[in-house]
Amino acid sequence: SDSAIGIHDLSFSTTEFVLPHTALAGHNGVEIGKYHLGIGQRSMSVAAADEDIVTLGATAAEPLIARHGTDRIRTVVFATESSIDQAKSAGVYVHSLLGLPSATRVVELKQACYGATAALQFAIGLVHRDPEQQVLVIASDISKYELDSPGEATQGAAAVAMLVGADPALVRVEGLSGLFTADVMDFWRPNYRESALVDGQESITAYLQAVEGTWKDYTEQGGRPLEEFSAFCYHQPFTKMAHKAHRHLLNTSGYDTDEGDIQRAIGQTTAYNAVVGNSYTASVYLGLAALVDQADDLTGRSIGFLSYGSGCVAEFFAGQVVPGYRDHLRTTEHREAIDRRRTLDYAAYRELHERSFPADGGDHPTPAQSTGPFRLAALRGHKRIYERR
Ligand code: CAA
Repeated sequence: SDSAIGIHDLSFSTTEFVLPHTALAGHNGVEIGKYHLGIGQRSMSVAAADEDIVTLGATAAEPLIARHGTDRIRTVVFATESSIDQAKSAGVYVHSLLGLPSATRVVELKQACYGATAALQFAIGLVHRDPEQQVLVIASDISKYELDSPGEATQGAAAVAMLVGADPALVRVEGLSGLFTADVMDFWRPNYRESALVDGQESITAYLQAVEGTWKDYTEQGGRPLEEFSAFCYHQPFTKMAHKAHRHLLNTSGYDTDEGDIQRAIGQTTAYNAVVGNSYTASVYLGLAALVDQADDLTGRSIGFLSYGSGCVAEFFAGQVVPGYRDHLRTTEHREAIDRRRTLDYAAYRELHERSFPADGGDHPTPAQSTGPFRLAALRGHKRIYERR
């Protein structure tokens, strides 16, 4: 049955560099409390000149391939909203870098930050049809807003790779979902722009309406009551948003809101996002990683997932943590991915931010800044050239 399909393994990667919010505040004079408490962010991951969504995605997925091999993987779904090509899927580069078999289907999905949840649901559908197969889902994003804009403090970058299969070792995903779509312009990035446009307050309102809408649909479909959930993984454009979302869910469900209740429900899901920043499609699954890596035994517990993508589409679904899951975690590697980042000063961050790819089709090697397993070596004749170290 579909209740025995879900996340078999999960791994994430982040960038070479990190910018502490104290450095941003030092530049723009913002009181640091606004960042640390007001939005709940401490630092943001910043990509090196030779890193992109492909190198991040391949780095996240490589440990899954090392542990499970490629025999059962017949589909790769790459979710992103910071796409590098209008035609070719970033997943094809990852497929090549990881040496996956040619008998594989690969595709890219987009609906802002919601894309990875669509990928997960489609993967479950494929596994349901053939439980022998596994699907590699990769969510990879680099979040970029304009310098000195309100969104700048919520930038970040990371990739999450998940192996989806039958009899999963981590989390079973339940078949019932609450769904919500509304045509709003809260956050978008026209094809001709590198950085996103956003109506900040409108985006928060749209997110909260989507929380309400998905929960209403979930409840009408006969979903679990709120009390059955031990924790909630929300999309976290900034970690304070998870607080706002959960408070809104409790209020609209007729509960009094107590700060302690909110902390218990979401507190352990925010540790990675607070230091990585907004990783768009990967964000909600970075929340799951932080939860399972830190929480005491969650065996048999139900976790609520709220995935939100501006524009907007949202989905609420439930997962159950599988007995023995702790033997399959990658806690040490995840902490290492965060701790190994090199700290930038404001000037070096600004230089990286202002960098844009030459569009003349010439031969442009990229500076060798990153030290991870994969790098973007050059742009040559309008083609991206990747290297494995
Ligand atoms: N100490 C403590 N708190 C402080 C403070 C201080 N010194 N100064 C300000 N604050 C608090 C404010 O009271 C406010 O808290 P509340 O929201 O709880 O009232 C918080 O810090 C932020 O302050 P502002 O609202 O004044 O901040 P802002 O308008 O400059 O920017 C933002 C906030 C709109 C979120 C902006 O960062 C932004 O545009 N971000 C990008 C859009 C975004 O992330 N939207 C989220 C929903 S959309 C989504 O989820 C999809 C996605 O990934 C983009």
